[in-house]
Amino acid sequence: MAFRATVLTLYPEMFPGPLGISLAGRALARGDAVVEARQIRDFGKGRHRAVDDTPAGGGAGMVLRADVLAEAIDAALQPDDGRPRLLMSPRGRPLTQGLVRELAGGEGALIVCGRFEGVDERVIAGRSLTEVSIGDYVLSGGEIAAMALLDAVIRLLPGVMGNEQSGIRESFETPLLEHPHYTRPAEWEGRRIPPVLASGDHAAVERWRLAEAERLTRERRPDLFRGWKDLSPEDG
Ligand code: ADE
Repeated sequence: MAFRATVLTLYPEMFPGPLGISLAGRALARGDAVVEARQIRDFGKGRHRAVDDTPAGGGAGMVLRADVLAEAIDAALQPDDGRPRLLMSPRGRPLTQGLVRELAGGEGALIVCGRFEGVDERVIAGRSLTEVSIGDYVLSGGEIAAMALLDAVIRLLPGVMGNEQSGIRESFETPLLEHPHYTRPAEWEGRRIPPVLASGDHAAVERWRLAEAERLTRERRPDLFRGWKDLSPEDG
């Protein structure tokens, strides 16, 4: 069964967007994954199909209505729908490769894209939405965050990645950042590739790559490096 993502958004025309191109695009074209975008405004109230209102208690901005969003969610779900229900939000649980892997192992997801200042808290509780953040910065809406999440999930689906090896080696599959990469020409603007990479000694190449991955991780992401050292005492 294909991974099926239903995205609830005020801008369904943003989808599939970049997901229609390259690796994810081919997966969608083959039917390994399905991304369907639904318009929340179809469930809006009144002549103007209003989806938002002013915040209770006053203040700036607008809040997405609980009743409108709940109707959109209920209409998008099958009776026995067991897919996780996500709300893209900077308040959410950080998106990690672990969560991506978990989602890729399931049948799909319902993904709500927030807009305005926020979403009425009651629909988050009432429809058991799990808030997910793609980082500590604020986007103007959840759509780009949903695309980032879906891109990361789709590339892990069975048969999607041409070279299975390249998936396993990459950043966060091991908890280290990736080692540097080089290709031809061997010298460019006076910079040579590290000699070990031309040595033909595969074991030495692997040792160099691990050492470089550790060096980069120690320098750039001491938080990840501590976790790695805890995993691999003494010799690594
Ligand atoms: N919506 C706005 N900002 C976001 C973020 N950082 N992550 C997920 N959804 C968002």
